Amino acid sequence: MNKPIGIFDSGVGGLTVAAAIKRVLPNESFVYFGDTRHSPYGDKSEDTIRGYSDRITDFLLAQDCKAIVIACNTASALAYTFLTQKYPDVPIINVVDPVVAHVGSKINNKVGIIATRATTKSGIYRKKLRKLNAKLQVVAAATPLLVGVVEEGFTNTKVSQGAIETYLGSKKFSDVTTLILGCTHFPLLQKEIETFYNGRAEVVDSPELVAHYLKYRLAQTQLLEASLMPNYSFYVSEFTDNFNRVAKMFFGEDISLEEKML
Ligand code: DGL
Repeated sequence: MNKPIGIFDSGVGGLTVAAAIKRVLPNESFVYFGDTRHSPYGDKSEDTIRGYSDRITDFLLAQDCKAIVIACNTASALAYTFLTQKYPDVPIINVVDPVVAHVGSKINNKVGIIATRATTKSGIYRKKLRKLNAKLQVVAAATPLLVGVVEEGFTNTKVSQGAIETYLGSKKFSDVTTLILGCTHFPLLQKEIETFYNGRAEVVDSPELVAHYLKYRLAQTQLLEASLMPNYSFYVSEFTDNFNRVAKMFFGEDISLEEKML
């Protein structure tokens, strides 16, 4: 129970999930790994993403982690099944299923998904949503520019507003009633996207849903920690000062990143 949770992402974007886990599970320790050396995953092949995800999971398990959270949509889309088959005894959680469970319960909705190219190409959200609720209308688009907008600190500017309007102002997206932010970076644009839809669409906050699902899974497997002495470690596969700046933006507080090449 007192072992840490392992959390990984292609970079520092998954810190949005780590921050939600810290809020929802304040007693839990975690080890975060951001694969900054190989980021972005969003334009890479399935094989490559599986290979990276496997190496990171191996590293996190060597740190004695009791569960793994794939805090990256792209790795969740392309490496989750592979990892659950390779590590059948470890609870492994992805960021797609909790969102699908939340959205899929709505009947006759039109759901939009924005994500990286690799996640969009995988069709993971569409497949899982339609399996749960065949009545759902699903539209999806790759919106890679939004990743850069967030990383460059252009949230709440004309740049972010222009990118959001261009991507979501299309006929395809203008009448969705639910929008899934299928990328770790997009929660930082949530308020602006909500303003864009002006109450016409629910914009789904996946980090919160993932953290609550993790709590449920840990309770189910009797792995919930009760003590109040959490420990947090943050590793990146390549360190630059810029990652420190961006990490603070995603996590909401100063953290110190340690370089660990895998
Ligand atoms: N973490 C990725 C995701 O959630 C976004 C950044 C990348 O392409 O690596 O899909």
